[in-house]
Amino acid sequence: MPHDFMPGLAGVPAARSAISDVDGQRGILEYRGIRVEDLCKKSSFLETTWLLLFGRLPSKAELDRFSNDLTHHRRIKYRIVDLIKCLPEQGHPMDALQAAVAALGMFYPGRNVKDVENNYWSAVRLIAKLPTIVAAYARLRRGDDHIPPRDDLSFCENFLYMVSDQVPDRLSAQTLDVCLILHAEHTMNASTFAGMVTASTLADPYTVVASSIGALKGPLHGGANEEVVEMLKEIGTPERVRPYLERKLKDKQKIMGFGHRVYKVKDPRATILQGLCERLFKECGTSPLYEVAVEVERISAELLAGKSVHPNVDFYSGILYDKMGIEVEFFTPIFAIARVAGWLAHWFEQLRENKLYRPDQIYEGEHNRPYVPIENR
Ligand code: ACO
Repeated sequence: MPHDFMPGLAGVPAARSAISDVDGQRGILEYRGIRVEDLCKKSSFLETTWLLLFGRLPSKAELDRFSNDLTHHRRIKYRIVDLIKCLPEQGHPMDALQAAVAALGMFYPGRNVKDVENNYWSAVRLIAKLPTIVAAYARLRRGDDHIPPRDDLSFCENFLYMVSDQVPDRLSAQTLDVCLILHAEHTMNASTFAGMVTASTLADPYTVVASSIGALKGPLHGGANEEVVEMLKEIGTPERVRPYLERKLKDKQKIMGFGHRVYKVKDPRATILQGLCERLFKECGTSPLYEVAVEVERISAELLAGKSVHPNVDFYSGILYDKMGIEVEFFTPIFAIARVAGWLAHWFEQLRENKLYRPDQIYEGEHNRPYVPIENR
Protein backbone atom coordinates (compact mmCIF):
# COMPACT_ATOMS: atom_id res chain seq x y z
CA MET A 1 0.00 0.00 0.00
CA PRO A 2 1.55 3.43 -0.92
CA HIS A 3 2.18 5.77 2.01
CA ASP A 4 2.45 9.55 2.17
CA PHE A 5 5.40 10.46 4.35
CA MET A 6 4.61 13.43 6.60
CA PRO A 7 7.82 14.71 8.24
CA GLY A 8 7.20 15.22 11.96
CA LEU A 9 3.87 13.39 11.44
CA ALA A 10 2.40 16.85 10.79
CA GLY A 11 -1.35 16.55 10.34
CA VAL A 12 -1.38 12.78 10.96
CA PRO A 13 -3.88 11.83 13.72
CA ALA A 14 -2.20 9.54 16.27
CA ALA A 15 -5.29 8.93 18.43
CA ARG A 16 -8.96 9.68 18.97
CA SER A 17 -9.29 11.85 22.06
CA ALA A 18 -11.93 13.76 24.03
CA ILE A 19 -9.48 15.56 26.32
CA SER A 20 -8.65 18.86 24.62
CA ASP A 21 -9.03 20.63 21.32
CA VAL A 22 -7.21 23.45 19.54
CA ASP A 23 -8.61 25.62 16.78
CA GLY A 24 -5.35 26.97 15.44
CA GLN A 25 -6.98 29.35 12.95
CA ARG A 26 -9.17 31.09 15.52
CA GLY A 27 -6.84 30.69 18.53
CA ILE A 28 -9.22 28.64 20.67
CA LEU A 29 -8.16 26.05 23.24
CA GLU A 30 -10.67 23.92 25.15
CA TYR A 31 -10.19 21.32 27.89
CA ARG A 32 -13.05 18.80 27.83
CA GLY A 33 -15.03 21.35 25.81
CA ILE A 34 -14.50 24.27 28.23
CA ARG A 35 -12.62 27.33 27.00
CA VAL A 36 -9.27 27.76 28.72
CA GLU A 37 -10.06 31.45 29.34
CA ASP A 38 -13.06 30.37 31.48
CA LEU A 39 -10.97 27.87 33.43
CA CYS A 40 -8.30 30.50 34.11
CA LYS A 41 -10.94 32.91 35.46
CA LYS A 42 -13.10 30.47 37.40
CA SER A 43 -11.24 27.23 38.12
CA SER A 44 -8.07 26.14 39.90
CA PHE A 45 -5.22 23.90 38.75
CA LEU A 46 -6.48 21.01 40.90
CA GLU A 47 -10.05 21.29 39.67
CA THR A 48 -8.81 21.55 36.06
CA THR A 49 -6.64 18.46 36.61
CA TRP A 50 -9.69 16.52 37.82
CA LEU A 51 -11.63 17.73 34.77
CA LEU A 52 -8.87 16.53 32.44
CA LEU A 53 -8.52 13.15 34.16
CA PHE A 54 -12.20 12.30 34.57
CA GLY A 55 -13.93 14.23 31.79
CA ARG A 56 -16.27 16.50 33.79
CA LEU A 57 -16.12 19.13 36.51
CA PRO A 58 -16.00 17.53 39.98
CA SER A 59 -18.63 17.96 42.69
CA LYS A 60 -17.45 19.74 45.85
CA ALA A 61 -17.03 16.38 47.63
CA GLU A 62 -15.03 14.92 44.74
CA LEU A 63 -12.75 17.94 44.57
CA ASP A 64 -12.24 17.94 48.36
CA ARG A 65 -11.28 14.28 48.30
CA PHE A 66 -8.90 14.75 45.36
CA SER A 67 -7.33 17.79 46.98
CA ASN A 68 -6.87 15.88 50.28
CA ASP A 69 -5.40 12.87 48.49
CA LEU A 70 -2.90 15.12 46.73
CA THR A 71 -1.97 16.96 49.91
CA HIS A 72 -1.29 13.69 51.72
CA HIS A 73 1.02 12.41 48.99
CA ARG A 74 3.29 15.43 48.66
CA ARG A 75 6.13 13.95 50.68
CA ILE A 76 8.95 12.05 48.98
CA LYS A 77 10.84 9.17 50.59
CA TYR A 78 14.19 10.01 52.16
CA ARG A 79 15.85 7.68 49.65
CA ILE A 80 14.53 9.85 46.81
CA VAL A 81 15.93 12.90 48.63
CA ASP A 82 19.25 11.04 48.96
CA LEU A 83 19.19 10.19 45.27
CA ILE A 84 18.61 13.86 44.38
CA LYS A 85 21.47 14.86 46.72
CA CYS A 86 23.83 12.61 44.75
CA LEU A 87 23.06 14.26 41.40
CA PRO A 88 25.59 16.77 40.03
CA GLU A 89 24.68 20.32 41.02
CA GLN A 90 25.40 21.65 37.53
CA GLY A 91 23.00 19.12 35.96
CA HIS A 92 19.76 20.16 34.29
CA PRO A 93 16.70 19.97 36.60
CA MET A 94 14.71 18.18 33.88
CA ASP A 95 17.25 15.35 34.01
CA ALA A 96 16.99 15.29 37.81
CA LEU A 97 13.20 15.20 37.55
CA GLN A 98 13.27 12.41 34.99
CA ALA A 99 15.68 10.34 37.11
CA ALA A 100 13.65 10.87 40.31
CA VAL A 101 10.34 10.02 38.61
CA ALA A 102 11.81 6.83 37.14
CA ALA A 103 13.11 5.98 40.63
CA LEU A 104 9.69 6.69 42.20
CA GLY A 105 8.28 3.81 40.18
CA MET A 106 10.64 1.46 41.99
CA PHE A 107 8.97 2.28 45.31
CA TYR A 108 5.35 1.88 44.28
CA PRO A 109 3.61 -1.15 42.81
CA GLY A 110 2.22 0.07 39.49
CA ARG A 111 2.98 -2.78 37.18
CA ASN A 112 -0.63 -3.93 36.69
CA VAL A 113 -2.06 -1.07 34.69
CA LYS A 114 -5.42 -2.87 34.44
CA ASP A 115 -6.10 -2.01 38.12
CA VAL A 116 -8.14 1.22 37.94
CA GLU A 117 -7.86 1.94 41.69
CA ASN A 118 -4.08 1.52 41.61
CA ASN A 119 -3.89 3.78 38.55
CA TYR A 120 -5.75 6.52 40.45
CA TRP A 121 -3.19 6.38 43.27
CA SER A 122 -0.29 6.39 40.82
CA ALA A 123 -1.74 9.55 39.23
CA VAL A 124 -2.21 11.16 42.64
CA ARG A 125 1.38 10.36 43.64
CA LEU A 126 2.84 11.72 40.42
CA ILE A 127 0.85 14.99 40.49
CA ALA A 128 1.56 15.48 44.20
CA LYS A 129 5.25 14.59 44.22
CA LEU A 130 6.54 16.35 41.10
CA PRO A 131 6.63 19.79 42.81
CA THR A 132 8.43 18.30 45.83
CA ILE A 133 11.09 16.71 43.61
CA VAL A 134 11.63 19.91 41.62
CA ALA A 135 11.88 22.06 44.77
CA ALA A 136 14.20 19.52 46.44
CA TYR A 137 16.66 19.64 43.53
CA ALA A 138 16.46 23.46 43.36
CA ARG A 139 17.54 23.69 47.01
CA LEU A 140 19.89 20.73 47.35
CA ARG A 141 21.99 21.65 44.34
CA ARG A 142 22.71 25.07 45.80
CA GLY A 143 23.67 23.56 49.16
CA ASP A 144 20.42 24.36 51.03
CA ASP A 145 18.41 21.79 52.98
CA HIS A 146 15.38 20.06 51.48
CA ILE A 147 12.18 21.64 52.85
CA PRO A 148 9.39 19.09 53.32
CA PRO A 149 5.94 20.11 52.11
CA ARG A 150 3.39 21.84 54.35
CA ASP A 151 -0.13 20.42 54.39
CA ASP A 152 -1.75 23.73 55.35
CA LEU A 153 -0.65 25.45 52.12
CA SER A 154 -2.33 25.27 48.71
CA PHE A 155 -0.65 23.38 45.86
CA CYS A 156 1.07 26.49 44.46
CA GLU A 157 1.79 28.17 47.81
CA ASN A 158 3.44 24.97 48.96
CA PHE A 159 5.63 24.69 45.84
CA LEU A 160 6.88 28.27 46.13
CA TYR A 161 7.41 27.75 49.88
CA MET A 162 9.45 24.57 49.31
CA VAL A 163 11.69 26.43 46.83
CA SER A 164 12.24 29.64 48.81
CA ASP A 165 11.46 28.76 52.49
CA GLN A 166 8.95 31.64 52.47
CA VAL A 167 5.18 31.50 52.16
CA PRO A 168 4.49 33.48 48.96
CA ASP A 169 2.10 36.42 48.64
CA ARG A 170 -1.40 35.60 47.37
CA LEU A 171 -0.94 37.19 43.96
CA SER A 172 2.20 35.16 43.15
CA ALA A 173 0.50 31.89 44.19
CA GLN A 174 -2.64 32.78 42.19
CA THR A 175 -0.55 33.74 39.16
CA LEU A 176 1.33 30.44 39.29
CA ASP A 177 -1.98 28.56 39.58
CA VAL A 178 -3.21 30.15 36.33
CA CYS A 179 0.14 29.35 34.66
CA LEU A 180 -0.32 25.69 35.65
CA ILE A 181 -3.86 25.63 34.19
CA LEU A 182 -2.48 27.02 30.92
CA HIS A 183 0.27 24.39 30.73
CA ALA A 184 -1.82 21.41 31.89
CA GLU A 185 -2.77 19.98 28.50
CA HIS A 186 -2.39 20.62 24.80
CA THR A 187 -3.68 17.83 22.53
CA MET A 188 -1.13 15.64 20.70
CA ASN A 189 2.15 17.41 21.40
CA ALA A 190 5.60 15.78 21.41
CA SER A 191 5.77 14.97 25.14
CA THR A 192 2.22 13.59 25.26
CA PHE A 193 2.92 11.45 22.21
CA ALA A 194 6.20 10.21 23.73
CA GLY A 195 4.29 9.16 26.87
CA MET A 196 1.57 7.49 24.82
CA VAL A 197 4.10 5.46 22.85
CA THR A 198 5.55 4.23 26.15
CA ALA A 199 2.06 3.68 27.63
CA SER A 200 1.06 1.61 24.59
CA THR A 201 3.58 -1.04 25.69
CA LEU A 202 1.64 -1.21 29.02
CA ALA A 203 4.64 0.21 30.87
CA ASP A 204 3.92 1.59 34.38
CA PRO A 205 2.88 5.26 34.76
CA TYR A 206 6.21 6.37 36.27
CA THR A 207 7.98 5.17 33.13
CA VAL A 208 5.31 6.84 30.98
CA VAL A 209 5.80 10.19 32.73
CA ALA A 210 9.61 9.83 32.65
CA SER A 211 9.36 9.42 28.85
CA SER A 212 7.22 12.54 28.56
CA ILE A 213 9.62 14.55 30.73
CA GLY A 214 12.47 13.62 28.38
CA ALA A 215 10.54 14.86 25.33
CA LEU A 216 9.42 18.06 27.07
CA LYS A 217 13.00 19.07 27.80
CA GLY A 218 14.00 19.89 24.21
CA PRO A 219 14.22 23.52 23.04
CA LEU A 220 11.67 22.98 20.27
CA HIS A 221 9.08 22.02 22.93
CA GLY A 222 9.00 22.98 26.64
CA GLY A 223 12.64 24.03 26.76
CA ALA A 224 11.85 27.13 24.65
CA ASN A 225 10.76 29.14 27.74
CA GLU A 226 14.34 29.10 29.08
CA GLU A 227 15.72 30.28 25.78
CA VAL A 228 13.18 33.12 25.61
CA VAL A 229 14.42 34.61 28.88
CA GLU A 230 18.06 34.14 27.83
CA MET A 231 17.24 35.93 24.56
CA LEU A 232 15.47 38.83 26.33
CA LYS A 233 18.41 39.20 28.72
CA GLU A 234 20.84 39.17 25.80
CA ILE A 235 18.86 41.88 23.98
CA GLY A 236 18.78 43.95 27.18
CA THR A 237 16.83 47.06 26.12
CA PRO A 238 13.89 47.78 23.76
CA GLU A 239 16.09 49.85 21.38
CA ARG A 240 18.27 46.82 20.66
CA VAL A 241 15.35 44.60 19.61
CA ARG A 242 15.17 45.51 15.91
CA PRO A 243 18.87 44.96 15.02
CA TYR A 244 18.90 41.74 17.09
CA LEU A 245 15.85 40.27 15.33
CA GLU A 246 17.00 41.39 11.89
CA ARG A 247 20.33 39.67 12.44
CA LYS A 248 18.68 36.47 13.70
CA LEU A 249 16.29 36.23 10.78
CA LYS A 250 19.04 37.04 8.28
CA ASP A 251 21.01 34.09 9.77
CA LYS A 252 17.87 31.91 9.35
CA GLN A 253 17.55 31.42 13.10
CA LYS A 254 14.24 30.98 14.92
CA ILE A 255 12.94 33.49 17.45
CA MET A 256 12.33 31.50 20.60
CA GLY A 257 8.77 31.57 21.97
CA PHE A 258 7.37 32.22 18.50
CA GLY A 259 5.66 29.91 16.05
CA HIS A 260 3.55 26.81 16.54
CA ARG A 261 2.70 23.76 14.49
CA VAL A 262 -1.04 24.30 15.08
CA TYR A 263 -1.66 27.98 15.94
CA LYS A 264 -1.62 30.32 12.97
CA VAL A 265 -2.64 33.28 15.20
CA LYS A 266 -1.39 34.35 18.64
CA ASP A 267 -1.58 31.41 21.05
CA PRO A 268 -4.50 32.16 23.44
CA ARG A 269 -2.27 31.06 26.33
CA ALA A 270 0.27 33.75 25.40
CA THR A 271 -2.53 36.36 25.53
CA ILE A 272 -3.58 35.22 29.02
CA LEU A 273 0.04 35.06 30.24
CA GLN A 274 0.64 38.57 28.95
CA GLY A 275 -2.41 39.72 30.96
CA LEU A 276 -0.94 38.05 34.05
CA CYS A 277 2.35 39.91 33.47
CA GLU A 278 0.47 43.23 33.31
CA ARG A 279 -1.38 42.43 36.56
CA LEU A 280 1.66 41.18 38.47
CA PHE A 281 3.94 44.00 37.34
CA LYS A 282 1.33 46.65 38.19
CA GLU A 283 1.35 45.42 41.81
CA CYS A 284 5.01 44.39 42.19
CA GLY A 285 6.84 46.78 39.85
CA THR A 286 7.60 46.14 36.21
CA SER A 287 10.22 43.80 34.78
CA PRO A 288 12.79 45.07 32.24
CA LEU A 289 12.38 41.73 30.47
CA TYR A 290 8.70 42.46 29.90
CA GLU A 291 9.41 45.78 28.19
CA VAL A 292 11.86 44.04 25.84
CA ALA A 293 9.34 41.22 25.22
CA VAL A 294 6.57 43.60 24.18
CA GLU A 295 8.96 45.21 21.70
CA VAL A 296 10.04 41.77 20.37
CA GLU A 297 6.38 40.97 19.73
CA ARG A 298 5.82 44.32 17.96
CA ILE A 299 8.88 44.14 15.71
CA SER A 300 8.40 40.42 14.95
CA ALA A 301 4.86 41.11 13.72
CA GLU A 302 6.46 43.43 11.18
CA LEU A 303 9.44 41.25 10.22
CA LEU A 304 7.50 37.96 10.09
CA ALA A 305 4.37 39.42 8.46
CA GLY A 306 2.62 36.82 6.30
CA LYS A 307 4.29 33.81 7.97
CA SER A 308 1.63 33.16 10.65
CA VAL A 309 4.34 33.13 13.31
CA HIS A 310 3.14 34.62 16.62
CA PRO A 311 4.01 34.33 20.33
CA ASN A 312 3.35 30.88 21.79
CA VAL A 313 2.85 29.74 25.40
CA ASP A 314 6.59 29.89 26.11
CA PHE A 315 6.99 33.56 25.27
CA TYR A 316 5.58 35.25 28.39
CA SER A 317 5.68 32.42 30.99
CA GLY A 318 9.39 32.72 31.80
CA ILE A 319 9.06 36.44 32.47
CA LEU A 320 6.51 35.67 35.18
CA TYR A 321 8.61 32.92 36.75
CA ASP A 322 11.66 35.19 36.68
CA LYS A 323 9.69 37.83 38.61
CA MET A 324 8.76 35.15 41.18
CA GLY A 325 12.48 34.55 41.75
CA ILE A 326 12.59 31.16 40.03
CA GLU A 327 15.86 30.23 38.31
CA VAL A 328 15.70 29.94 34.52
CA GLU A 329 16.53 26.22 34.45
CA PHE A 330 13.44 25.52 36.55
CA PHE A 331 10.95 26.95 34.06
CA THR A 332 10.58 23.70 32.11
CA PRO A 333 10.22 21.59 35.30
CA ILE A 334 7.29 23.89 36.23
CA PHE A 335 5.83 23.13 32.81
CA ALA A 336 6.16 19.42 33.70
CA ILE A 337 4.45 19.95 37.09
CA ALA A 338 1.43 21.21 35.13
CA ARG A 339 1.58 18.97 32.06
CA VAL A 340 1.64 15.77 34.09
CA ALA A 341 -2.14 16.32 34.35
CA GLY A 342 -2.50 16.07 30.56
CA TRP A 343 -0.02 13.19 30.24
CA LEU A 344 -2.00 11.17 32.80
CA ALA A 345 -5.35 12.06 31.23
CA HIS A 346 -4.07 10.64 27.92
CA TRP A 347 -2.71 7.60 29.77
CA PHE A 348 -6.14 6.92 31.33
CA GLU A 349 -7.83 7.42 27.95
CA GLN A 350 -5.40 5.20 26.08
CA LEU A 351 -5.64 2.32 28.55
CA ARG A 352 -9.35 2.02 27.79
CA GLU A 353 -8.62 1.00 24.19
CA ASN A 354 -4.91 0.36 24.00
CA LYS A 355 -3.07 -0.62 20.85
CA LEU A 356 0.70 -0.86 20.69
CA TYR A 357 2.20 2.01 18.68
CA ARG A 358 4.21 0.45 15.91
CA PRO A 359 4.32 2.81 12.92
CA ASP A 360 5.82 2.03 9.57
CA GLN A 361 8.80 3.49 7.72
CA ILE A 362 9.82 4.07 4.15
CA TYR A 363 13.00 2.07 3.66
CA GLU A 364 15.50 3.93 1.48
CA GLY A 365 18.53 1.71 1.96
CA GLU A 366 20.02 -1.00 -0.28
CA HIS A 367 19.21 -4.72 -0.51
CA ASN A 368 21.29 -7.84 -1.10
CA ARG A 369 24.71 -6.30 -0.40
CA PRO A 370 27.53 -8.83 -0.10
CA TYR A 371 29.31 -9.16 3.24
CA VAL A 372 32.94 -8.09 2.61
CA PRO A 373 35.53 -9.69 4.94
CA ILE A 374 37.39 -7.10 7.03
CA GLU A 375 40.75 -7.70 5.33
CA ASN A 376 39.23 -6.83 1.92
CA ARG A 377 37.58 -3.50 2.91
N1 ACO B 1 11.11 32.42 14.31
C1 ACO B 1 11.25 32.75 13.01
N2 ACO B 1 10.66 32.09 12.00
C2 ACO B 1 9.88 31.06 12.33
C3 ACO B 1 9.67 30.67 13.66
C4 ACO B 1 10.33 31.38 14.67
N3 ACO B 1 10.18 31.05 15.95
N4 ACO B 1 8.86 29.61 13.68
C5 ACO B 1 8.57 29.33 12.40
N5 ACO B 1 9.17 30.21 11.59
C6 ACO B 1 9.13 30.24 10.13
C7 ACO B 1 10.10 29.19 9.56
O1 ACO B 1 11.38 29.73 9.35
C8 ACO B 1 9.42 28.80 8.27
O2 ACO B 1 9.66 29.80 7.31
P1 ACO B 1 9.93 29.36 5.77
O3 ACO B 1 8.65 28.71 5.33
O4 ACO B 1 10.22 30.65 5.10
O5 ACO B 1 11.07 28.41 5.79
C9 ACO B 1 7.93 28.87 8.63
O6 ACO B 1 7.83 29.82 9.70
C10 ACO B 1 7.36 27.52 9.09
O7 ACO B 1 8.16 27.06 10.18
P2 ACO B 1 8.43 25.54 10.57
O8 ACO B 1 9.64 25.46 11.42
O9 ACO B 1 8.41 24.72 9.31
O10 ACO B 1 7.12 25.21 11.37
P3 ACO B 1 6.92 24.00 12.37
O11 ACO B 1 5.46 23.81 12.49
O12 ACO B 1 7.72 22.82 11.99
O13 ACO B 1 7.57 24.56 13.70
C11 ACO B 1 8.05 25.20 15.88
C12 ACO B 1 6.94 24.84 14.88
C13 ACO B 1 9.03 24.03 15.99
C14 ACO B 1 7.40 25.42 17.22
C15 ACO B 1 8.77 26.46 15.37
O14 ACO B 1 7.86 27.52 15.23
C16 ACO B 1 9.93 26.86 16.29
O15 ACO B 1 11.01 26.30 16.19
N6 ACO B 1 9.69 27.85 17.21
C17 ACO B 1 10.70 28.27 18.12
C18 ACO B 1 10.79 27.31 19.33
C19 ACO B 1 9.58 27.45 20.24
O16 ACO B 1 9.18 28.53 20.63
N7 ACO B 1 9.05 26.27 20.65
C20 ACO B 1 7.91 26.20 21.56
C21 ACO B 1 6.67 25.79 20.84
S1 ACO B 1 5.28 25.75 21.95
C22 ACO B 1 5.54 24.36 22.87
O17 ACO B 1 6.06 23.39 22.46
C23 ACO B 1 5.11 24.38 24.27
